[in-house]
Amino acid sequence: MAPASSPPRAFALSDKVKDEVHKQDVWTVFSPASGYVPEDSINLGQGFMNWAPPEYIQEAAKKSIEAIETNHYSIPKGRIRLRQAISKHYCEWISISFGLSSPSFKRTINPDTEIVVTSGANEGIYAFELAFLRDGDEVILFEPFFDQYICNTTFNGGVPVYVPLHPPAHSKHTSVKASEWKIDFDEVRAAITPKTKAIFVNTPHNPIGKVFDTEELLKIGKIAEEFNLIILADEVYDALVFNKEHIRIAALGNLWERTITIGSAGKSFSATGWRVGWAIGPQHLVQPTLAATTRIVFCTNSPLQEAVAVGLEKAPEHKFFEQQTAEYLERRKVFTAALDKVGLPYTMPDGSYFVLVDNSSIQIPDDFVIPDIVNQGRPRDWIVSWFIVQTAGVVCIPPSDFYSPKHIPIGEQFSRFAFCKDIDTIRAAGERLLALKPYIKK
Ligand SMILES: Cc1ncc(COP(=O)(O)O)c(C=O)c1O
Repeated sequence: MAPASSPPRAFALSDKVKDEVHKQDVWTVFSPASGYVPEDSINLGQGFMNWAPPEYIQEAAKKSIEAIETNHYSIPKGRIRLRQAISKHYCEWISISFGLSSPSFKRTINPDTEIVVTSGANEGIYAFELAFLRDGDEVILFEPFFDQYICNTTFNGGVPVYVPLHPPAHSKHTSVKASEWKIDFDEVRAAITPKTKAIFVNTPHNPIGKVFDTEELLKIGKIAEEFNLIILADEVYDALVFNKEHIRIAALGNLWERTITIGSAGKSFSATGWRVGWAIGPQHLVQPTLAATTRIVFCTNSPLQEAVAVGLEKAPEHKFFEQQTAEYLERRKVFTAALDKVGLPYTMPDGSYFVLVDNSSIQIPDDFVIPDIVNQGRPRDWIVSWFIVQTAGVVCIPPSDFYSPKHIPIGEQFSRFAFCKDIDTIRAAGERLLALKPYIKK
C-alpha cells in the first residue's frame, strides 16, 4: 500500500525573489503573448529583431551542432576561438570603425586573462556583481536604467542608488537630441557614500539612445578614481551608433584598470536568443567574474560561441557592421519621419534601437476604459502607452519601470518604441500611429 500522502504546505519563497514572482511588470502586460494586447498588434515593445543573424553565421551554428566536440562543455572562460575573435574585434575594429578613429585605445586584450564569455550580457553583469558586491555595497545607476540591473544588484546583496539623466525642458514640445539628456554631476557626487562600490554607464543608452561623449565619460571616470569605484560599462549597443563615434570609457586615461566592459552577441548580430555575451577588462576584474560565472552556468553554450566567433571573424569581409548600421539608420529615419507626421515629439537616438516618444500631448478621452491591470495606481506613462497600444495597434513600453519611484515624474511623459524591425513593419507601424492624431492636443 502506498504511504499516506498529504499535499505540501505552501513553500516560503526567498526574500529576494518573493516580490518578483507575481509582478505585473511591463514585460508581462505589454506583450502580444500576454493576452492583454490585441493579437494583431505590431510589437515595437521589447527590443528584439524580426530577422535572423546573417546566413554565414547561421551556417556556422549548424556546423557546430553537427560536430561532436562543440556539443559538449566548453571551458568556463569561453572557447578560445571566440575569445581571440573578441580580442581582435575590440582592439582593431573599433579603432577603424566607419572611418572614425579611437587613437587612445592602442592596447591589446589578452584573450586568456582579460575576456570571459558569458551567457548573454545580462549574465555577465550578474556574475560581475556576484563577484564584487558585499552586503550593503552601493551601486550608482543612471535613470532610466536597464531593468535587470536592479535584481542583478539586490540579489547579490547590493543596494541600487539612483541618479537621473535629465531631459531638456523643451522635450515636451519639440523633438530633442539624445545628447541633450544630461547628467548633473553634483547629483552623482551627492549620491556617493563610503559604501559605493561601482558605477554603471550604459552607452549607447537604452532607452534614451544617448552615446556618452568623452567629456562626460572623463567626468564619470574622475569620480570613479576619486572614490575608488569600479566602472561597469554596458556597451551592448556599441555596434549601433549613428554618425558618431562610440567612445569606450575603458580606453580613456587609466580607466582600463577599473572598468569592466560588457558586450552582447545578441545585439551585435541580431541573435538575442542565443545568449552569448562577454565581459572584458583587467585580470583583477575579469578573473573574479569568471569565478562567479563558472558557478552560475559553468559555461556558455558551445555551438553558438563558435558561430559568434565566425561572425566576428567574417564581419570585415562582409562589411557587416557598416551595413547593419546603415540599415538601422534607415529604420530610424522612417520611424522618426512617421512620428513627425503624427505630430509627437521624441528624442532622436544617436545609438541603440530605441526612440523615446514624448506622450504629454496625448489626451485620453473620458470614456476610454482602462483595465485594472494597467490602472492599479500606475504612473501616467502606463495609461498613455496602453492607450497607444489599443488605439493604434502598436506596442510600446512605459519607461517608468526603468526609474526609481522618486524619479518616475521624469520618465512618465515618455513611451519607448523599439525600431529593430524590418522597414515594412516600421512603415506599417508609422501608418497605424496616425490613429493617435485626433487625440493630440497642443
Ligand atoms: C542596456 C542593456 N544591457 C544589457 C542587456 C542584456 O543583453 P543580453 O540579451 O545580451 O543579455 C540589454 C538587453 O536588452 C540592454 O538593453
